Amino acid sequence: MSSSGQTAALNARRCGPLRGRVRPPGDKSVSHRALIFGALAYGDTEVEGLLEGEDVLRTAAAMRAFGARVEALGGGRWRVRGRGGLSEPADVIDCGNAGTGVRLILGAASGFDLAATFTGDESLRSRPMNRVMKPLAEMGARFLHRSGGRLPLTMRGGDLQALEYRLPEPSAQVKSAVLLAGLNARGDTVVIEPEPTRDHTERMLRGFGARVEVEDLPDGRRITLAGGQSLTGTRIRVPGDPSSAAFPLVAALITPGSEVTVDGVLLNPLRTGLLTTLQEMGADLAISGVRDEGGEPVGDVTARHSALRGVDVPAARAPSMIDEYPILAVAAAFAEGVTRMRGIGEMRVKESDRIALMAAGLSACGLAVEEEPEGLIITGAGANRPPVGGADVVTRGDHRIAMSHLVLGMAADSQVRIDEPGMIATSFPGFVDLMRGLGADISAA
Ligand code: S3P
Repeated sequence: MSSSGQTAALNARRCGPLRGRVRPPGDKSVSHRALIFGALAYGDTEVEGLLEGEDVLRTAAAMRAFGARVEALGGGRWRVRGRGGLSEPADVIDCGNAGTGVRLILGAASGFDLAATFTGDESLRSRPMNRVMKPLAEMGARFLHRSGGRLPLTMRGGDLQALEYRLPEPSAQVKSAVLLAGLNARGDTVVIEPEPTRDHTERMLRGFGARVEVEDLPDGRRITLAGGQSLTGTRIRVPGDPSSAAFPLVAALITPGSEVTVDGVLLNPLRTGLLTTLQEMGADLAISGVRDEGGEPVGDVTARHSALRGVDVPAARAPSMIDEYPILAVAAAFAEGVTRMRGIGEMRVKESDRIALMAAGLSACGLAVEEEPEGLIITGAGANRPPVGGADVVTRGDHRIAMSHLVLGMAADSQVRIDEPGMIATSFPGFVDLMRGLGADISAA
């Protein structure tokens, strides 16, 4: 049985030591961008190691609908033949579960004289789109949308004026949407981010031949992009996703006797907040073979079972590990003492309200958890007393909530069951098989 397409519930049971060497799937952020930038560019973009998860496949389908030729060549290799711009799609664009997909595509498409209607699954239809519509509307795009700025929405693009925009929330998706719109706007588009967020868009714009200026100023990072620049197709090697690597690494840290190496992990400093935090908790993590792959630092990360201790995670670290708090919460559940995570309000508007679901799941597994409007405080069971476990966990179709609780079940006293494993395939197809290959005991419930 493979993890993709599963609908039956899954159980994770306490297992023996985890051992082995694995490669995580390609990075989701880089994969979406590779397809979108390739479609905007002139000529061919060859992509290696694309994440063939459902979110990214939706973006591939969307780019075809906007007029690019997008071909899967097998084994994670893809070719995108861009035409230097996007044309009006004939049908509604369904971005599935993917917030990154829809927000980046909205930005990219807003620069062209076209109308397009976007929708998504139940989770995506409940997520805020105002954060991208507001700056894009200031640039000249027009929107018709449901109340509360939710999908489905229709956008009319074209004739944009550049904007200077200070991000009200730390969001790489919003930054990227504004920069992509700025490519086809009159004048210099400027985004100021008080807290730096992942910079794959800036790096990839350069890789496609655009000029982007980045200045670190006292009030934040200022990114400037001149309008009217064209992109040229290139080659992209997608590094391993640190947000997916986090699951086998934390599983090894909490399962006695384990040693697991995850190869080819993206080590962009704006994505390594979890590794820093785990090291502060006393995790035995070793990083080797650091190299540059396509403009991004990459390395191999080895985790060995460790006695973890609770820590205070600084709020300023949130943008560099925003998708990793659910699995950090699992590490915290096995630590001695209290772990405090603050300044993580953005977790409430992800694929689910991740603060609420982690608090509920960990409490059901016997842990003392305090939920705050923008925080989560977990008292660990202690390095020598695993959490009780034994819970049925509601995931509300959130892939990271599902994977985090399965990892918890691998080392808890009693099995942990999750209700809806199918969504794991949005970001980590093959998760169950990969974990089983390391020694996990995960089976249909
Ligand atoms: C992403 C940015 C983050 C992250 C998401 C991917 C990106 O979202 O949670 O999984 O690729 O730009 P926000 O921009 O909403 O923080």
